[in-house]
Amino acid sequence: MRAARRIVAMTGAGISAESGLPTFRDAQTGLWAKFKPEDLATPEAFAKRPQRVWDWYAHRRVMARDAQPNAGHRALVDIERAAESFVLITQNVDGLHQRAGSQTTIELHGNIHHVKCSRDGERFSEWAETGDSVPPCPRCGALLRPDVVWFGERLPPDALDAAAEAAQNCDVYLVIGTSGQVQPAASLARVAQDAGAIVIVVNADPNAVGPSNAIHAVGPAGSILPMLAQAHRMRA
Ligand code: OAD
Repeated sequence: MRAARRIVAMTGAGISAESGLPTFRDAQTGLWAKFKPEDLATPEAFAKRPQRVWDWYAHRRVMARDAQPNAGHRALVDIERAAESFVLITQNVDGLHQRAGSQTTIELHGNIHHVKCSRDGERFSEWAETGDSVPPCPRCGALLRPDVVWFGERLPPDALDAAAEAAQNCDVYLVIGTSGQVQPAASLARVAQDAGAIVIVVNADPNAVGPSNAIHAVGPAGSILPMLAQAHRMRA
């Protein structure tokens, strides 16, 4: 971190765990315990049961809105300010990086606080809740849906291109709080390593996956990232 000039960070749900948001694969608590994400976060689920999918996202939206960014989010802002170049890529849809103050965030999986028309994809950041039903698109009347990427859907091509380019052009690539189970986000660490970057996996789980030569920093992101930020501030 001291020698690094160009830093890229890729985050997953683990960085928001210390803000009280359950990670994606633990998110099914309470009422939602009987549903798997794979059964809710799909275009097929929305086509069949739009209300159920809408309600699940409404629940997660409220949790995200009520949560506060934590020391891990803030440490990435510190690194962004100190680094010669820094790119943050996130799989998270909770908006906590932006609320912490990150300036350049590539959102690979969209943002839960925005919606789009399920027919033509037009995006809206404000909409009228209708209470018991899924709100209609103000332009065409089709159902609105969360502006997130669902299983089986393509990632936004511009975001993916920007993420791949950043991965190919960095000295250090941080992989933070992600189980690395979802492609293509997971493969970017290999791209970075093949292009010469040092990969540092920051994860609470000592068995977290990463490319073969990665450095593993095991522990909560809210403790490890401030240490990495401090090391970077002391760079030569
Ligand atoms: P997961 O829930 O799959 O993984 C969370 C990771 O965070 C795990 O590896 C945990 O060990 C780790 N973790 C938990 N608490 C942590 C902490 N305090 N500090 C550091 N690490 C911690 O979440 P993602 O990898 O983000 O995609 O899931 C990736 C994608 O899968 C999501 O964006 C979503 C889902 O399908 C879509 O919706 C398209």
